[in-house]
Amino acid sequence: MIENRILSGMRPTGKLHIGHLSVLENWAKLQEDYKCFFMVADWHALTTAYDNTDEIKQNRRDMALDWLSVGIDPERSVIFVQSEVKQHAELHLLFSMNTPISWLERCPTYKDQVAQLGKEGKDINTYGFLGYPLLQAADILAYRADTVPVGEDQIPHLEMTREIARRFNHIYDTQVFPEPKAKLAKVSMLPGLDGRKMSKSYGNIIEIGETGKDLQGKVRQMTTDPNRIKKDDPGDPGVCVVNTYHGIYSEAGHVTELQEACRRGEIGCVQCKKALTTNLSQFMDPIRTKRDELSQNSMIDDILAEGAKKAALEAEKTMEIVRSAMKL
Ligand code: TRP
Ligand code: SF4
Repeated sequence: MIENRILSGMRPTGKLHIGHLSVLENWAKLQEDYKCFFMVADWHALTTAYDNTDEIKQNRRDMALDWLSVGIDPERSVIFVQSEVKQHAELHLLFSMNTPISWLERCPTYKDQVAQLGKEGKDINTYGFLGYPLLQAADILAYRADTVPVGEDQIPHLEMTREIARRFNHIYDTQVFPEPKAKLAKVSMLPGLDGRKMSKSYGNIIEIGETGKDLQGKVRQMTTDPNRIKKDDPGDPGVCVVNTYHGIYSEAGHVTELQEACRRGEIGCVQCKKALTTNLSQFMDPIRTKRDELSQNSMIDDILAEGAKKAALEAEKTMEIVRSAMKL
């Protein structure tokens, strides 16, 4: 086991939105205490989108740009694209030899998703999708990481990673793999523009690094207290998306003032939204600047190439032990 080593990843679904920020801020903080490997899980994206790969290159680049623009630091952490480190595939294949199918079939996320996506008309009764947790185990164990920051939904996959590690160590009489533990972080739920969960498919998102007119337009769309018709009607900030955002992106004193003015009917929603646009821009402008900088001169591509090299070096060290344990 390599202590204080983290691996985590996300499937590249394109540009991220500000609902993802709390996860990324958590990653950024972990860089202080851990050696971190952050992976763009493009092979994992194929498990559900194998027939729609036109955007995968753009998506993985966009996602990496978002990570770096909010403080994931390539000087301290290894940032790479999964498909550029072939050791993941080798380890996945070796795990597929000794993992009982029943473990995969009883994985709670598996049945749910097959049913869910089936309803949406998508057939994911594939070998690859069944093996999703094996590929994830390979991602983590290739680096012998002991800690994996993930959301609650990933707990069954982490549990299986531990079982796979234990079984491998047992069969080949080795200690190569640790049994990594999940590290759950509080994630704050940021509502979308319409008050529902923020999601690309609802069309209610603000992108990371969105600024200027685009951002202004998004704030304009936010739902306010529906009972407020005229601007001097007393309002209820408690049911207003704009107010939720003020709570995160504006100073506490300012927020209280706005809320009181709203309750007394002394501020119009247009003005309240203007104030939010100003504060949100202040937060977003430097992120945007950094994002633009990184996407010029193929800087991001160089960073990812360098990351893949470093990752492969580490993964290869593990694979040498693995092959030797298996007498390959
Ligand atoms: N399954 C994860 C998700 O959907 C993404 C992922 C792939 C991952 N490989 C990983 C997360 C390894 C942590 C560690 O969010
Ligand atoms: Fe929401 Fe502000 Fe309008 Fe009150 S004044 S309803 S807090 S936008």
